[in-house]
Amino acid sequence: MSELVSARIRDHAGKLGLNHLIETVDQLTTRAETEQLSYLEFLDQVLEEELGLRESRRFRNALKLSGLPHHKTLEQFDFAFQPDLDPRKIKDLATLEFIDRRSNITLLGPPGVGKTMIAVALAVAACQAGYSIYFTSLDDLVRRLRAAEATGRFNRQLAAYLRPAVLVVDEVGYLPLDRAEANMVFQLVSRRYERGSMIITSNKSFAEWGSVLGDDVLATAILDRLLHHCDVISINGPSYRLKDRLALVTGGEAMT
Ligand SMILES: Nc1ncnc2c1ncn2[C@@H]1O[C@H](COP(=O)(O)OP(=O)(O)OP(=O)(O)O)[C@@H](O)[C@H]1O
Ligand SMILES: [Mg+2]
Repeated sequence: MSELVSARIRDHAGKLGLNHLIETVDQLTTRAETEQLSYLEFLDQVLEEELGLRESRRFRNALKLSGLPHHKTLEQFDFAFQPDLDPRKIKDLATLEFIDRRSNITLLGPPGVGKTMIAVALAVAACQAGYSIYFTSLDDLVRRLRAAEATGRFNRQLAAYLRPAVLVVDEVGYLPLDRAEANMVFQLVSRRYERGSMIITSNKSFAEWGSVLGDDVLATAILDRLLHHCDVISINGPSYRLKDRLALVTGGEAMT
């Protein structure tokens, strides 16, 4: 009798897409009996396990499709290495409240100070919380938009960058853009303005964006929209990539 019932539960679970329950129905009921769970507790446990598994699957898949270069988290960020960066500011951003406000974040600073790492860590946290995310370098973004334009698919490609709740655009400033490319960036920023958050990293100050974007008027229009609702984080410390070499240098100096 109970075999028949558990077979039927498995069948129903399959039809409902409760894949975890299909595999664990016997285990769950045995555990409920041993632990003498109430009906409520039992039902709670079944739904919680199913949801937990579904969530972690969604998180894993979303990370795979996110374009993120790695999945480092804020716990791995060594704030002691950047004493001028206020950890509270970053932890405030990690509450993800900026996403609901459709506000932006810009991370500015020289190479190796952790701009991309913080952008990635915030995106990972957003993804875990269920927000859609996408990561791209500015170079890649512009290359794809250009290719799409050449084949008459510009709007569709642009729409792909408008969809995620959080769009990370990494490395503004390393490669200069021409006017047509800057115009595409303007379209992106103005379409996302007050609709979705962007996290931008740049090694250039805003004053230099005119030369990066090849056009002062477009740069001003882009910055106007980007910065209207925006947390600006400037990191002006040493490069983490040179951490060990810096230690060698200071060690060497201490000895002389
Ligand atoms: N404070 C830190 N604690 C731990 N790891 C760090 C820290 N800062 C940077 N890193 C690590 O150092 C490397 C360089 O950091 P990151 O890529 O974030 O630099 P960046 O500011 O984006 O530099 P670039 O302008 O060259 O792109 C990465 O592997 C990153 O994870
Ligand atoms: Mg970087």
